[in-house]
Amino acid sequence: KPRVLSGIQPTADSFHLGNYLGALRQWVAMQDTHEAFYCVVDLHAITVEQDPKKLRQRTRVSAAQLLALGIDPARSTLFVQSHVPEHAQLGWVMQCLTGFGEASRMTQFKDKSARQAADHVGVGLFTYPILQAADILVYRANEVPVGEDQRQHLELTRDLAQRFNSRYGKTFVLPEPHIVKDTAKIYDLQDPTSKMSKSVPAGVVELLDEPKVSAKKIRSAVTDLEREIRYDTEKKPGISNLLVIYSALTGRALSALEADYEGKGYGDLKKDLADVVTDFVTPVREKVRGYLDDPAELDKILLGGAQRAREVASRTLEAAYKRIGFLPPA
Ligand code: TYM
Repeated sequence: KPRVLSGIQPTADSFHLGNYLGALRQWVAMQDTHEAFYCVVDLHAITVEQDPKKLRQRTRVSAAQLLALGIDPARSTLFVQSHVPEHAQLGWVMQCLTGFGEASRMTQFKDKSARQAADHVGVGLFTYPILQAADILVYRANEVPVGEDQRQHLELTRDLAQRFNSRYGKTFVLPEPHIVKDTAKIYDLQDPTSKMSKSVPAGVVELLDEPKVSAKKIRSAVTDLEREIRYDTEKKPGISNLLVIYSALTGRALSALEADYEGKGYGDLKKDLADVVTDFVTPVREKVRGYLDDPAELDKILLGGAQRAREVASRTLEAAYKRIGFLPPA
């Protein structure tokens, strides 16, 4: 079976619909066809300041959400990144292979650092994509399910794998991004030209929000001054985003939805979408609560995952160290 790896940051109280439709849904589906490794990337989380207690709690809540969404620890290796030290170890190796200019071209770093004075931006934020490359390469993953915003990081990962291989001999697999076009970028409900992201709460539909709260956010979604319910990302980004979410959660084609809503108003679409979201999140929320009620069981799942992950990661790291010329410990 080909291998898949992906990761998600534990930096919010809840995942949002962008995370789910852009990435996590594919994580769940790929368990059947791939040998899967999925991690909560807490090392990445500390590239910006985190409250220790919150970080611990959010790491558990993240794992609980992944389980609730259908990641099955019997079929997939689910773990916490900091439990597998090989990520950071290979990360250092990859940093030494990365050009300063190459790292400087990462657009996500440029966006995230632009708003702050240079001394408030940690070096970890700069090297973030290199650690991400190590996450992927240390499992020799063939595919990486992510949203559109991660495409450039995947290109860097492939470049680094290639560079290591040509310098030291074939060690790493060049991974392919697995990006599902229709849902690769879900937009903010308040600003339907930027991606839904944790930093702007009012436009973000969180999986663990009370359905009432989600309904309100959907009701207040920014649309346009026409009345027609039509998929047109240029002229109608707000309505198009709502249609994409609706279609992804119900499996109904965009053209079918356009026909369903012919002659109806934006209010009808929003009300129905709120119901669709409620139906989706209600069982997820219940399952999350179940996992959080038994943190010992949750921690046991994560420990088992880390053990399995380390078996694979340590073998790759050992091979890489040897090729680099590190003297093996006797
Ligand atoms: P993160 O934690 O920001 O997001 C997790 C996943 O959700 C996707 N995503 C979206 N997809 C569509 N529309 C959106 N609005 C949206 N917002 C987020 C992201 O593309 C991502 O797939 N750097 C990664 C974490 C990471 C990783 C890795 C991923 C660390 N190591 C190794 C893959 C492989 C990140 O910050 O994702």
